Amino acid sequence: MASHGNKSEEEAAITEAPNTPISTIVIIVAMQTEALPLVNRFQLTEDPDSVFPEGVPWVRYRGVYKDLNINLIWPGKDSILGVDSVGTISASLVTYASIQALKPDLIINAGTAGAFKAKGAVIGDVFLAVDCAFHDRRIPIPVFDMYGVGLRQAHSTPNLVKELNLKVGKLSTGDSLDMSPHDESSITANDATVKDMEGAAVAYVADLLKVPAIFVKAVTDIVDGEKPTAEEFLQNLAAVTAALDNTVTQIIDFINGKCISEL
Ligand code: ADE
Repeated sequence: MASHGNKSEEEAAITEAPNTPISTIVIIVAMQTEALPLVNRFQLTEDPDSVFPEGVPWVRYRGVYKDLNINLIWPGKDSILGVDSVGTISASLVTYASIQALKPDLIINAGTAGAFKAKGAVIGDVFLAVDCAFHDRRIPIPVFDMYGVGLRQAHSTPNLVKELNLKVGKLSTGDSLDMSPHDESSITANDATVKDMEGAAVAYVADLLKVPAIFVKAVTDIVDGEKPTAEEFLQNLAAVTAALDNTVTQIIDFINGKCISEL
């Protein structure tokens, strides 16, 4: 571990945050439906010479927008079943590979999510997560229990939240779209407003490799509502993706020309 003299780790992280404008961004997006509007919006093109290992379905779209090198990474379609590679395994793998290959200044994990009306969420809301934790890694042994939850803070972005008037909340991640009673009690323990299938995995890898990360989640379904989740999710996916696209664009515009410490 690097020595920071008498400074605490937190102070060191703040004072050592580079004072240069953000230049390279990696946006991790799990589903093609979520990714393509952003690819079009920023006129990104698929990288012909993949930075990823041969044969993996992971796709990198790249382009320059204003002063930013934007890389949108989509884990692609499962090579056997042909559906989007959603969930924590693909998310952690592409996050790791993208950081190694592209050395981004910032990671944005953008996608759709479920959310709780009891926490004030409605369909179409876009949340910025303050922190991320897992709800399906239950290990009832002291300390391993906390390891399972895997709580990680998102990079703090007070100016961004204020400027764009974003809703904020805690994000809970698991590998299922539905919610078992066990998941529900863990999500409640996590005090989560938003539920997804990638955030905490991206947060784990970003923290491991010390890259600041933020999490932008647009609400397709109300987890504590009456409608079946899968039905509500599919019904709202296209419309809510447009809201996600708009917010991510506003975030990118805000980020342009700023340092990490100014977010
Ligand atoms: N993505 C969209 N809706 C979701 C939900 N209810 N749970 C997990 N991921 C989601």
